[in-house]
Amino acid sequence: MLESRMLDNRNIVLTGFMGSGKSMVSRELGKIYRREVLSTDELIEQREGISIRDIFETRGEPYFREVEAAVVREVAERQEVIIDCGGGVVIDPANMTTLRRTGIIFYLHTSVESVLKQVLKNQKRPLLNVADPEARVRQLLTEREPMYRQADYTLETADNTVDEIVVKMREILDHD
Ligand code: S3P
Repeated sequence: MLESRMLDNRNIVLTGFMGSGKSMVSRELGKIYRREVLSTDELIEQREGISIRDIFETRGEPYFREVEAAVVREVAERQEVIIDCGGGVVIDPANMTTLRRTGIIFYLHTSVESVLKQVLKNQKRPLLNVADPEARVRQLLTEREPMYRQADYTLETADNTVDEIVVKMREILDHD
């Protein structure tokens, strides 16, 4: 189904912790709803011309968050797109307010174990490049959980495949 009354021309916004499957789910939704997928992380890298990891290393996290907020404002101006948000977009309440104006926000909730399995596969996540990544994941998840819960819908994803998550999202988007 390509049309949905609830969805209309609103954006579909995916939030959630690193490794929760946002990017894979976004790609699938893009195919199903025939919508462009915009990743805040990719747009930041394009704009800065270097990787997220290098931005953190050479310019620092506060700078990264500024660019991220600017990118969020830009993507939220669009209509009928899927927005794949970096895991820390929720930290700034202004980002959530901006995204909510034009979109329906989903939180892909996952477990610490599942995050660790996904993110330790590569070195792309500067925030987890620490001696004890598990402790860091637990700490960040605890801090951010109330912010993620500001989403319009929370979906459990830990034991689900991408297809199963997409089915759950379509139940909400297509049947409301
Ligand atoms: C971050 C998540 C990353 C990326 C950056 C910071 C975070 O995005 O934006 O490394 O603060 O949670 P993903 O959630 O796509 O890994």
